[in-house]
Amino acid sequence: MVATGAGGGGYAGGMADLSRGRTLDAAPGVVGIAAAELPPLPDDLLARPTAGRLDLGAWFRNPGARLELEIGTGKGTFILNQAAADPETNYLGIEWEGEIYAYCADRIRRRGLSNVRMLHADAVSFLRWRVHDGAFAVIHLYYSDPWPKTKHHKNRVVQHGFLAEAWRTLAAGGELRVVTDHDELWAWDREHFAPWLADAASLAAGLAAGMSDPVPAGIRAAVGGGPAFSEHEFVPPAWVDDGEVLGTNYERKFCGPGGAVKAPHSCVLRKRG
Ligand SMILES: C[S@@+](CC[C@H](N)C(=O)[O-])C[C@H]1O[C@@H](n2cnc3c(N)ncnc32)[C@H](O)[C@@H]1O
Repeated sequence: MVATGAGGGGYAGGMADLSRGRTLDAAPGVVGIAAAELPPLPDDLLARPTAGRLDLGAWFRNPGARLELEIGTGKGTFILNQAAADPETNYLGIEWEGEIYAYCADRIRRRGLSNVRMLHADAVSFLRWRVHDGAFAVIHLYYSDPWPKTKHHKNRVVQHGFLAEAWRTLAAGGELRVVTDHDELWAWDREHFAPWLADAASLAAGLAAGMSDPVPAGIRAAVGGGPAFSEHEFVPPAWVDDGEVLGTNYERKFCGPGGAVKAPHSCVLRKRG
């Protein structure tokens, strides 16, 4: 099964007793999907890396609809508002902290949204082992945990291995959308994005120079000589309040209205090839 490792980037720790005495109902089978409900991965997974991949569309009432993913939903303000504004698209949210996952799924259940499912799992290993090529139109990554200590940087979502999986699991022209208020995490993100936005020779040179994560060789072949992604401006969804980028719980708490406390960084990486 995919790992459901503990979180710990600093946000979840301040979210004790989310339920405030209520019983949270993740609506299993309707909204919530526990990692344990997924079919087991085969013992020879490394020899057959595609054997555990799932038909994600089958989780939704309208299996053929376009599919977007949010990694690290937190309390779910983005996915809730976005799914309500765009009922023709299916939204999958992944959250690895159990109580936050249950809180978010409970919120979706109470709103009665039928185009959202919540998965309790580690998004990074889920992408790697469970998702077919080209499954997502958009991957949303908002206010990801910064893991500030050097020894914890390996826990950050953005790594070269993650970018390879994001590229693989996005449809042609699909987008990885990233927003963060954390300057040091943003510098890390930019450093990791750079070879993916440069020409294929730079990506290859970066790999040769010791990018620590494996990058499937097929990516370079698929993009020809050009970059794997092109960069575009992030456009806030139409439903956000004036001055907000996303209006998520984290943004409202730490960035303030209009970025008065701190203006977030943002970008969109669009898949080429
Ligand atoms: C700082 S919070 C931001 C939450 C939300 N996006 C917001 O803006 O309010 C980051 C969230 O991502 C979750 N998270 C971090 N890494 C994850 C991973 N690999 N898989 C699933 N969830 C993850 C954390 O548990 C936490 O709830």
